Amino acid sequence: MSRIYYIAGNWKMHKTRAEAADLARALRTQLQDGVHKYLVAPSFSALETVGPLISGSNIRLGAQNVAVEEQGAHTGEVSVLQLKDLGVQTIIVGHSERRHVYKEEDALINKKLRLALKHGFEVILCVGETLEEREAGQAEVVCESQTLWGLAGLGATDLANIVIAYEPVWAIGTGKTATPEDADAIHASIRKVIGRLYGTSAAEQLIIQYGGSVKPENVKALMAKENIDGALVGGASLKAETFAAIAKF
Ligand code: 13P
Repeated sequence: MSRIYYIAGNWKMHKTRAEAADLARALRTQLQDGVHKYLVAPSFSALETVGPLISGSNIRLGAQNVAVEEQGAHTGEVSVLQLKDLGVQTIIVGHSERRHVYKEEDALINKKLRLALKHGFEVILCVGETLEEREAGQAEVVCESQTLWGLAGLGATDLANIVIAYEPVWAIGTGKTATPEDADAIHASIRKVIGRLYGTSAAEQLIIQYGGSVKPENVKALMAKENIDGALVGGASLKAETFAAIAKF
């Protein structure tokens, strides 16, 4: 299997510029001998600070969201053109906090994803079920549907710039992690959908990250699973020591 591991830190709405700079500097040093692919996604307000601090390192610069339009009268939004100007390389779309708190729907997420691809960004598409959906036995169906909708209109070649992050909503920020077996089962079902749509080679190459209370203590068992190719880390990405421990599992 030729897939690499991809460990990403989503800093969410944390850190002033000075705090973000400290973390970026520490990560640059601590990850320099790391062998996997890495990314940090600071708040929009810290992108200009963090970008130059990780430039030329093995850490990519990510944004946590993007506007659905290229430019115009969209108060409070940040566009692909502005993110490109800041040196952003990767954009996260469809995070569960965007879906559930800010009511972003699949069609909007798909539009953002296609716009980001059109402008040459790598995109991390997040999918994941709620606790109610899991308890109703709907976890696979929900993740498959979010994957299908999220990728609507894409061709097989577009997939080279897509990463999927499976983040069960009930595991985010709660300290509850999906068991490696449960996570792997969802990853496998997502990979199957991709295979059906885009062929087995595209499915085999697709990186699928797991997110939801990933910590230094549980990362190894998760990454050992066949279909888990990395992590999208929230809380534990806010300290260099814990993120580095995850990143160098
Ligand atoms: P936690 O690692 O804090 O559970 O957050 C996961 C997440 O939402 C990353 O995008």
